[in-house]
Amino acid sequence: MDRNQKMIEDILKIREQIGKTPLVRLEHFPGFNLFAKLEYTNFSGSIKDRAANNILYHAIKENKIREGTIVIESSSGNFGISTALQCNRLGVDFCAVVDPQISEINLKMLRLFASRVIMVDQPDETGGFLLNRIRKVKELVEITDNSYWTNQYENPNNFLGYAGLADEINRAFSSLDYLFVPTSSCGTVVGLTRFVKQQFPDLVVVAVDIEGSMIFSDKKCKRYIPGLGAGRKAAFMEGAPVDEVMILTHEEIISGCRDLLNSHSVFAGGSSGAAYFAACKFMNGRKWQGSSPNALIICPDRGIPYIDTIYNDAWVTKILEEKTMNELMEKVG
Ligand SMILES: Cc1ncc(COP(=O)(O)O)c(C=O)c1O
Repeated sequence: MDRNQKMIEDILKIREQIGKTPLVRLEHFPGFNLFAKLEYTNFSGSIKDRAANNILYHAIKENKIREGTIVIESSSGNFGISTALQCNRLGVDFCAVVDPQISEINLKMLRLFASRVIMVDQPDETGGFLLNRIRKVKELVEITDNSYWTNQYENPNNFLGYAGLADEINRAFSSLDYLFVPTSSCGTVVGLTRFVKQQFPDLVVVAVDIEGSMIFSDKKCKRYIPGLGAGRKAAFMEGAPVDEVMILTHEEIISGCRDLLNSHSVFAGGSSGAAYFAACKFMNGRKWQGSSPNALIICPDRGIPYIDTIYNDAWVTKILEEKTMNELMEKVG
């Protein structure tokens, strides 16, 4: 068997460890049924395994990833971790471009799984690191023979990778009325909107974002919770039929995470708490008549990486104080 054939076989083997994630019913909601899709049981521990696997699969099939290829991506989060672990399994080198805002635990994981981690430590003209990270990736791709940039923010195989998740949802429900999806690259929300609406055309899709994110708003502020939000508009969102957008505060997201844990024993990450808070706020704010609607939240990752932040009172107090200070400074000008 040649190397390319072996890589295809291996990427499909990894796919066997992705999906069939638990769907649980969260109890005690008057007038509606709330379900949660727990995506943290995937291969590397997050929903991003679906996008990364699909991107890598197509790149291997199209011979863009072959013997000796170095895969490159700018990611400090779950996409980077997933790509690193899948490349590790494939025997393919992976270079992650990160910045100093990366969480300690993600940096440790990337150093463990990836062949190379490059830290971009100079802020760009916006004061953030995103533009400089992308510049670094482009520079690396240009000077490295046989390199491949997964480019999750623009690669359509990102959102097409959610066909499997949509299929699991479509098979699990006989009717689905509301779907709450946290957003960053928008691969999940665009993929699910496209594939779940084929089965449930009247479904209301609610994209959930964090204050300070630039996806649906131009109001910038410091974001303290990773995973959710982005410093730019999402390339996939143009023309995507998302029905509603909810932008939550840090306080709401933290409260959502803790309620999800304390009321339902679901120990999940920041974006899951956001989806939960958004669903409760949206569904509780309406009067339901007739048969109870079905609502689903997507829970992208587990709570463990957030144990020292969202689930730590001292950290919460500190960032909320800092946030109030920043808001005051902005008002004063
Ligand atoms: C924890 C978490 N939640 C939500 C998302 C958003 O997913 P998407 O990039 O598909 O919009 C991500 C993406 O990295 C994530 O890591």
